[in-house]
Amino acid sequence: MAIQAPATRPANPRFSSGPCTKIPGFSLDMLNDAPLGRSHRAAIGKAKLKEAIDTTREILGVPADYRIGIVPASDTGAVEMAMWSLLGERKATMVAWESFGAGWVTDVVKQLKIEAETKTADYGDIVDFSTIDFNTDVVFTWNGTTSGVRVPNGDAIPADREGLTICDATSAAFAMDLPWDKLDVTTFSWQKVLGGEGGHGVLILSPRAVERLENYTPAWPLPKIFRMTKGGKLNEGIFKGETINTPSMLCVEDYLVSLTWAKSVGGLKGLIDRADANAKVVWDFCAAKSWIANLANDPATASTTSVCVKFTDDRIKDGAAFAKAVAKRLENEGVGLDLGAYRDAPAGLRIWCGSTVETADVEALMPWVEYAFEAEIAAQA
Ligand SMILES: Cc1ncc(COP(=O)(O)O)c(C=O)c1O
Repeated sequence: MAIQAPATRPANPRFSSGPCTKIPGFSLDMLNDAPLGRSHRAAIGKAKLKEAIDTTREILGVPADYRIGIVPASDTGAVEMAMWSLLGERKATMVAWESFGAGWVTDVVKQLKIEAETKTADYGDIVDFSTIDFNTDVVFTWNGTTSGVRVPNGDAIPADREGLTICDATSAAFAMDLPWDKLDVTTFSWQKVLGGEGGHGVLILSPRAVERLENYTPAWPLPKIFRMTKGGKLNEGIFKGETINTPSMLCVEDYLVSLTWAKSVGGLKGLIDRADANAKVVWDFCAAKSWIANLANDPATASTTSVCVKFTDDRIKDGAAFAKAVAKRLENEGVGLDLGAYRDAPAGLRIWCGSTVETADVEALMPWVEYAFEAEIAAQA
C-alpha cells in the first residue's frame, strides 16, 4: 500500500539549529533604518549599538552591574575571548556533553594547556553538577545544541563559589531562564533563538568576572581582538557599544528588529513560552510513537530549543544512513530543512524549536516525519 503524504505542510519549513529561522513575518524592508555607509563610531552607529546592549539587558533581565559587550566572531569569539582572558588563575573544570562543549575542552587542554579536570557525559545525558568543584573555574554549555540536553536550572551552582562560571548559552539565551547570580560569564550569538545573523557574539560579565580581568594577567599573549583591559582596567567602552573592531551595522539593525519582535510577544516569558510549546509538540509526538524517542534521557534536562530525536525501530539496518535518508526526504519534500542530526551526534533528527519557530509549523512537520520514516522503512525493504 502506497504511503499517503500528509495534507498539511509547514508554512515555514526552516528548522535549522543555526542560523535559525528569522522572526515571523521577516522581510529585508525591516532593515531600512540601518545606518549603512556610516561609521559605527558616529553618533548614529554608537546609538544603535548602545540600544542593542540596553534592550538585551532589558529583555534578558541582566542585572545593572553586569557588563554586556558585542564582540567579534559570534558565540565562539565570545567564549574564546573569555577563556583566553580569564582562565589560568586557578584550576579549571571543563564540562561537556556534546560537541561544542567538547570543543571548549580541546581549547583548554590542548591550546591553553592549563591545569584542568574534564567531566563529560554521553549524548543524551548531562554531567552531574553536584560533583563539580565550583572553587575552580567551570566552563560549560547551558544547552547542548547537538545533544538536545540542557542544564535544568542553576541550583547546583553555589552562590559563594570562589571560581568563575563561564557559560556558553548560545542556544539557550532568550528561550530559557538563565540565573544571572550563578553565571559570571555568559555568551551567545544572534543567529540562534532570535533568528539573527552570524558574525557577532555577546559577552556578559558579572562583577566578579570584571574583578578577575582587572587583577589577573594570563601567562600567554592576547591578540587585540580578545583584549578587554587597558592598563589593568576594564575597557568600559566595549560595554557601551564601542566595539573592538568594526561590526556589521546591517546585522545590528537585524538584531534590533528581532529584539523589538521579542518585546511584542511578551519579552522573555513570551519567548520561553513559545519554545516550550514548540518542544512539547515534538515530545508528545515521541511519547505517542514507538519508533522515535527524545535523545535526552531525563525529561528534566530535555532541551526546548534544539530538540534531538532518535529512531528506535528494530527494523532499521543502518541507523546513520537511515536518519540521513529521512532528513533528505523531508528536505526534498520542502517540509523540513536542515534538520539532520549534527555530524558527531547519534543518528536522528534535530528539530529546532526556538522562539522564532511557529508552533503550527512544528505541528505540521510531525506527520511528515512519520511519513518520511515509513517511506524509508519501505525503501529499506
Ligand atoms: C552550544 C554552541 N556553542 C557554540 C556554537 C558556535 O556558535 P557560533 O557559530 O555562533 O560561533 C554553537 C553553534 O551552533 C553552539 O550550538
